[in-house]
Amino acid sequence: MTIRKTPTVLVVEDDIESRTAMRKILDGVGYKTMEADNGQEALDLLPTEEIDILVTDLRLPIMDGVELLKRSKAADQEIEVILITGHGTVEVAVEAIKEGAYDFITKPIKKAQLLHSVEKAAEKQYLQRENKELRSQLSQSGVRKLVYASQEMRNIARMVEQIAPSTATVLIMGESGTGKEVIADAIHVASPRRARPLIKVSCAALPETLLEAELFGYEKGAFTGANARKEGRFELANGGTLFLDEIGEISPAVQVKLLRVLQDGKFERLGGTRTIDADVRILGATNKDLHHEVAERQFREDLFYRLNVINIRIPPLRERKDDVQLLAMHFLKLYSEKNQKPIEGFSEDAMLALTSYDWPGNVRELENAIERAGVFTSGKLASLTVLPQSVSAFAEPRHSLTFKIGTPLRELERKAIEITLQHTRGDKNMAARLLGIATRTIYRHLEREGQENGAGDDDSESVAEMTK
Ligand SMILES: Nc1ncnc2c1ncn2[C@@H]1O[C@H](COP(=O)(O)OP(=O)(O)OP(=O)(O)O)[C@@H](O)[C@H]1O
Ligand SMILES: [Mg+2]
Repeated sequence: MTIRKTPTVLVVEDDIESRTAMRKILDGVGYKTMEADNGQEALDLLPTEEIDILVTDLRLPIMDGVELLKRSKAADQEIEVILITGHGTVEVAVEAIKEGAYDFITKPIKKAQLLHSVEKAAEKQYLQRENKELRSQLSQSGVRKLVYASQEMRNIARMVEQIAPSTATVLIMGESGTGKEVIADAIHVASPRRARPLIKVSCAALPETLLEAELFGYEKGAFTGANARKEGRFELANGGTLFLDEIGEISPAVQVKLLRVLQDGKFERLGGTRTIDADVRILGATNKDLHHEVAERQFREDLFYRLNVINIRIPPLRERKDDVQLLAMHFLKLYSEKNQKPIEGFSEDAMLALTSYDWPGNVRELENAIERAGVFTSGKLASLTVLPQSVSAFAEPRHSLTFKIGTPLRELERKAIEITLQHTRGDKNMAARLLGIATRTIYRHLEREGQENGAGDDDSESVAEMTK
């Protein structure tokens, strides 16, 4: 929350008597005050003095109050301006409101009127600042934008919209880094619960008893160390959404309790007797194959069905390559803005590598690669050289295979493996991925080479040697 500091009020008035009187009134109720004799003097104070509210006479030497209003607003959007008008200038003051003045007071100044107006202006400013802070917190931590181009993700986005209004439990499945949490955020934000909290619990991060205490809360004395009553996440999420991340990790005991909340919407705090109603929408996420866990009796079948009312499976990034380019551009923009670098895009071969690579770490790996690329890029384009080697290896190989018709396939295979291994600087796993074959095929090939070479041929370009 914004700390509510005492507002600083700057009084601008060329008439000393009137100026001193206004200052006295404001000082008397605890505002910090400053004064200026004219508009220029006032503007000079703005950059250093953290002025919150400006009370200015309309008729001033050098520049009038309206001019000062415009210039001070240009210097500091948040400043609130109150105008003092003499006889016959009310029309000007009304005009000034349209220019962004907060209020105007007519002379002769009455104490109550001045205080009322300043107080209201301070209140408005406080609320605006608090709002702004909340919004920025939200965009930093909470809700991230869902970026996609693929048909797969478009279907998921449509599904999010359809299911958001209900309270049905949703189970989000997908490999690590595919965006499960992003989807959970999107569901909450699109739901009527958006104004209420979205509470997140990582079920894998806590040991069993702590997780229970976190979820359901406890009464004073429920266990050693429970010195005071604590509300659990279910209570904190009341009216909102509870996101249970890595739900495949919860122990049998917690599974039972969770099942009860899902069935009856009721639970008790640890050590408590009072039954509490839970008005909470539950979203779960897992990168485990829960069907398999159920078959293995690691996860309760009844709980699984309660959770899996709606199922969203996010495909790995390699199965929705159409998203890569857009996501890469999105992250590049994000991080170049953050680091204040004028990077505009990727070189052609860099983009080719990005879209050819198979991203085992999914969107998170892509995001990290782009963040890194942003750091090392000095020009307008991020090039192949700033990408991690694992990715840049997927750029278009410089070699081309030419062969005589009639060359045995096995020979072509050998050549392709050799060239690819050169390209990956001997990394056999990566070469295998580039070629779309198993790593053991490469080993078999190298063994065969070794045997052939071992039979007297002293070829210094032997692949087996080169890739040691
Ligand atoms: N469609 C998307 N649009 C924009 N950013 C995305 C998208 N998908 C994922 N991200 C970003 O990628 C990163 C990983 O996403 P997220 O944390 O949601 O993955 P996850 O599936 O929950 O991974 P894990 O299983 O490891 O917890 C986050 O920084 C997220 O903002
Ligand atoms: Mg996650």
